[in-house]
Amino acid sequence: MDSSLSATQTKKPEGSVTSRETLTITDNRTGKSYEVPITHGTIRAADLRQIKVDPKEFGMMSYDPAFNNTASCISKITFIDGDAGILRYRGYPIEDLAEKSTYLETAYLLLHGELPTSAQLENWTYNVTHHTYIHESIKKFLDGFHYDAHPMGMTISTIAALSTFYHDAKDIFSADSRTKQTYRLIGKMPTIAAFSYRHTLGMPYVYPDNDLSYPGNFLNMLFRTSETKYRPNPTLERALDILFILHADHEQNCSANTIRSVGSSHVDPYSATAAAIAALYGPLHGGANEEVLRMLMEIGSVEKVPNFIKRVKAGEVKLMGFGHRVYKNYDPRARIIKRVAYEVFELMGKNPLLEIALECERIALEDDYFVKRKLYPNVDFYTGLIYQSMGFPMTMFPVLFAIPRTSGWIAQWEEMLLDPEQKIARPRQIYLGHDTRHYVPIGQRG
Ligand code: CMC
Repeated sequence: MDSSLSATQTKKPEGSVTSRETLTITDNRTGKSYEVPITHGTIRAADLRQIKVDPKEFGMMSYDPAFNNTASCISKITFIDGDAGILRYRGYPIEDLAEKSTYLETAYLLLHGELPTSAQLENWTYNVTHHTYIHESIKKFLDGFHYDAHPMGMTISTIAALSTFYHDAKDIFSADSRTKQTYRLIGKMPTIAAFSYRHTLGMPYVYPDNDLSYPGNFLNMLFRTSETKYRPNPTLERALDILFILHADHEQNCSANTIRSVGSSHVDPYSATAAAIAALYGPLHGGANEEVLRMLMEIGSVEKVPNFIKRVKAGEVKLMGFGHRVYKNYDPRARIIKRVAYEVFELMGKNPLLEIALECERIALEDDYFVKRKLYPNVDFYTGLIYQSMGFPMTMFPVLFAIPRTSGWIAQWEEMLLDPEQKIARPRQIYLGHDTRHYVPIGQRG
């Protein structure tokens, strides 16, 4: 994209439609017109700065709280068409990947831009698998948490603590260093998550088993008790792998924006990833899956759903797991997850909360309140039911989101670092506070 401030003062257009890729803006305060270039359907906010009444002014800015209509980067990683309900990683439809790929292969795709050859996949899997162990001092660090600590809080802190172990991580402009930290982050996330879980139960930590697949080893570290060799159930192992694929990236969501923003200060990737996990923890983002389960339990029975929906419509509560900033159609991930849910229920027995969830969905998809606002089930609506049936406590749900999202975060972080147009993230503000006031000694204040 051409970044020059090419907008110049021009004459007003004569009302004719031109084929130029420009936008003409007339400032009615001065009567002046400005022509600014349009690239990829976008104008550069900096091109507005030439619009001033007085030359001494700072110039026009755009105001966009929560980035509702602002592109903060150029990306080649993930594509979403929210109206059509389309999600693609590096051009590949999510449905294809969920059916045919594995999480580790998908992570490679996100990070490298292409699907791996057999040799590349073997090498990648070997390296991730051989970075799953954590330093014994990290284990001691985890021991310091209280027995009822939330595993997400433990994961945030422990990932941040990794930066104190790997000093080479500061060398963010070395491709070799970035590759090493990528292996470590993707490899160690399940270990840290599983150790956090075992800590809350007061159970001994289970060390990684390098013979198992990525999700299989995670299940081993979570659930192994006295078996000499843990053998994950293939249905649960595959279900978890599919869930990992679906959660791997989602373009400029709150946590991706966080890792880009925090990473733009050139901090090491462990600190930046910890910040992204913290963003994910919130109930409006990755914490929503935990909130959905709490909501379904609070509703309690199918008969009570209409009354709950009434409260949602009155603005008293939100229907958690519904709505999305980008999707104004059925979230394609939710569709796949619903199918996976039935496969898991067939093995583990139906989750008793399923009927309540289905009733919420049925009413919401017909109700004017939800239809008008285009509120559909999102990725978090059914995941909690699956996780619960697989034996996970609710507090682990957001952690199960954070593990696979790590590959997406690193891909977004690296793309930001290598983009010559990116700088330290620093938005502007509209200051509406006091003008200069003079300090009043405490005895003279009213
Ligand atoms: N329940 C009831 N009303 C809702 C909901 C909901 N879940 N979501 C949005 N609305 C209403 C909202 O009140 C607003 O109504 P009005 O126009 O009358 O003020 C309208 O729909 C537009 O919503 P918004 O809050 O402007 O939309 P947003 O793009 O700022 O927020 C969201 C998106 C996901 C934060 C929001 O839909 C929400 O809070 N959903 C529940 C939490 C949730 O499920 N989060 C997971 C998101 S998907 C996975 C992820 O990103 O991690």
